Amino acid sequence: MKFEVLTLFPEMFDVFDYSIIARAKETGLIEINRINIRDFTNNKHKKVDDYPYGGGAGMVMQVEPIYNAVENIEKKYGYKPFTIFLTPRGKKFDQEMAKKLANIKHIMLICGHYEGIDERIMPLVDEEITIGDYVLTGGELASMVIIDSVSRLIPGVLSTNVSYEDESFYNGLLEYPQYTRPEEFRGMRVPDVLLSGHHKNIEIWRRYQSLRITYLRRPDLLKKANLSKEDLKMLNK
Ligand code: ADE
Repeated sequence: MKFEVLTLFPEMFDVFDYSIIARAKETGLIEINRINIRDFTNNKHKKVDDYPYGGGAGMVMQVEPIYNAVENIEKKYGYKPFTIFLTPRGKKFDQEMAKKLANIKHIMLICGHYEGIDERIMPLVDEEITIGDYVLTGGELASMVIIDSVSRLIPGVLSTNVSYEDESFYNGLLEYPQYTRPEEFRGMRVPDVLLSGHHKNIEIWRRYQSLRITYLRRPDLLKKANLSKEDLKMLNK
């Protein structure tokens, strides 16, 4: 899977030189190309922003360098990758959307800064996405969240024994608690059932914990989840 990131701060994406995503890049499972929007200005001072028409505070990113950068990518590949613009006014990102994006082979992310980007970039954009109802200083962190959560869904990026099925949000519920050695730490014991070796009981305990935690913390998720008869019994419904 390939990502093209259009940004004024390409160095911020050095975070992907660490850990799981770094390994996925090395093995060629994913490719992250950073494009500095500033390299596509036509003025001597490499200026990328200007005052907003109509007045108001702050600066607005100009549209021309972005078109130039996108057209350069189009020329390189012979097509325009699926294009996402990160903005608080976009569609809310969630695990469902991550799964959909993981099926797309080539994604381009446009990161805005200052007070926004000239509205005329819109013909380039396939999807506007927000990562949550708060305002960041730019689209870079939001892009990173998307690249990270989508990349880990690409087969082979996580070690093979990791199961997506058990994870928070995979089946609409929050994850059950996990424990590792030692069996007891400062008086806190690992639940007996997990030491029992009884796989069926362990499975039931984990499902119950998932249901309980979701019920207490995110009842909104429970409403949307596909619950079985057994699940409803455990919840006393
Ligand atoms: N740019 C600024 N804030 C953002 C957010 N919450 N999501 C995506 N892009 C943004």
